[in-house]
Amino acid sequence: ADVHFYDFILKETKVTKLCETKSIMTVNDSFPGPTIKVHKGDTVYVNVNNRGDYGVTLHWHGVKQPRNPWSDGPEFITQCAIMPGTNFTYEVIFSDEEGTLWWHAHSSWTRATVHGAIVISPESGKSYPFSEPDDDKVIMIAAWYMGDLKELVDEAMIEGKDLPHSDGYTINGELGDFCNCSQVTTHGWYVDYGKTYLLRIVNAVVNAELFFAIADHNLTVVGMDGGYVKPIVTTCIMISPGQTMDVLLTANQPLGRYYIATRQYSSEDAEVTGFDHSIGSAILQYRGNYSLPSPPVFPNATLPLYLDFGAALRFTNQLRSLASEDHPVDVPGDVSTKMFITVSMGEIYCPNSSCTSVSGNKLGSSLNNVSWVNPSLDVLSAYYRNLSGSYTADFPDWPPSMYNFTGDDLPDSVDMTYQGTKVKVLNYNETVEIVFQGTNVLKSSMNHPMHVHGHNFYVVGTGHGNFDSKMDPRTYNLVDPPHVNTFGVPKNGWLAIRFTANNPGVWFWHCHLDRHMSWGMDMAFIVKDGGTLETSLRPPPAYMPPCMDMGSYDIS
Ligand code: C2O
Ligand code: CU
Repeated sequence: ADVHFYDFILKETKVTKLCETKSIMTVNDSFPGPTIKVHKGDTVYVNVNNRGDYGVTLHWHGVKQPRNPWSDGPEFITQCAIMPGTNFTYEVIFSDEEGTLWWHAHSSWTRATVHGAIVISPESGKSYPFSEPDDDKVIMIAAWYMGDLKELVDEAMIEGKDLPHSDGYTINGELGDFCNCSQVTTHGWYVDYGKTYLLRIVNAVVNAELFFAIADHNLTVVGMDGGYVKPIVTTCIMISPGQTMDVLLTANQPLGRYYIATRQYSSEDAEVTGFDHSIGSAILQYRGNYSLPSPPVFPNATLPLYLDFGAALRFTNQLRSLASEDHPVDVPGDVSTKMFITVSMGEIYCPNSSCTSVSGNKLGSSLNNVSWVNPSLDVLSAYYRNLSGSYTADFPDWPPSMYNFTGDDLPDSVDMTYQGTKVKVLNYNETVEIVFQGTNVLKSSMNHPMHVHGHNFYVVGTGHGNFDSKMDPRTYNLVDPPHVNTFGVPKNGWLAIRFTANNPGVWFWHCHLDRHMSWGMDMAFIVKDGGTLETSLRPPPAYMPPCMDMGSYDIS
């Protein structure tokens, strides 16, 4: 295994899009940021030098970082922010991941512009479980906001207002031909007829699930979230924020130009919510001498419309682990801890001004009716140094009441939410099953792509309506379930997952739609040490960024 070093300089960079120039936070002046390239099992040191205007942390999404939550990154969970004028070096430890993952800022919504791909090749001498592609190509899809996103989010959070919606989708940093003032800079990708390419697609969008298609070309999905899946041949994929997909494309169509296109997929009712209808695009162009037909071909028939739940489900339901001899699955059969977690939008109970500067109830989101609040001292430091006051270890295994979760006219009272910083403590190697149950409180059921840090989980079951604890477990797939770090709890439905808590430390769980994350759809796990050095949390590095507001903690 090799060791690699990267320098990431965070700073404000001026960018012009949609006819306007604004300043965004970038890494090394580029949007998207640099791609990290490693082989399976390597270690990477990323020295982050913050020359920007505000504090940020970075997260290595999907990298399990065995025993090393110190470099995992979510602000207030495993560290405090790297403040302007300071440095921090992340030690990113790759273990069994192989394929595509990504890195992103993990402070408020800064990941909108601070992100990049991670490409993990097989160990040298080993090969892919499919025939070697001729080349590969990273496709980073992000959302563009015309306003100052940080200001908008900070203000909305303080005043309890609705959070901002995006103004367009970029593919490798460009909005493409269907957006104002964007045609000149549309991202172009040249291919050779007959060659096969491995596309590494990342949904880095802050708040939207996406459909993605390339005109007239089939896509063969072979990997997801840093692991391999049974090949799926399709004309369109649905990818949730946080997810990564490895897709083979063979350039076998008549020489010409073809649109690569993406649009939002919404499980919401578009009338009720602000919504970004724009199409992000890039152009695939064959090399060679031929007269260019113009305009390029658009995937009219294969890029679904934004409310096409059927298309999304048809794709998602096909996902299976490769489950081969070289890439086996290891689904926990016996479960030692069972949790049933409601995933809700709801109202936060605020008797006085204790929740925010606005008093009275406000919109929030929750897991088992707990709406997460970030502590001022990160959970990991508090846990490691045995300090109280940061979090409590009483995240409930069950919701406070059982009701018809997906019913049509639920009173708000069924899901009055309380704020808290509650974590669930797991023993080392505990085998965990969680059923996430979507609810229709406030008639606001929608998909929630839940993401875990430090582990992957097996998606053993999913379905529509309320989970039936007698019947539904009989349908579980324990043979080849997808092994992922992010997967959607379907609108008015449920998702059952299993994993082994074999990574000591503190690990964040949250919806990867940042609107919901900001509103509190988060929790954290503490996985205890296993008793030996090799099964215990590593000691912290010599320097961790200090936390600002330490007044109330007993530091000795
Ligand atoms: Cu990709 Cu906690 O995030
Ligand atoms: Cu959500």
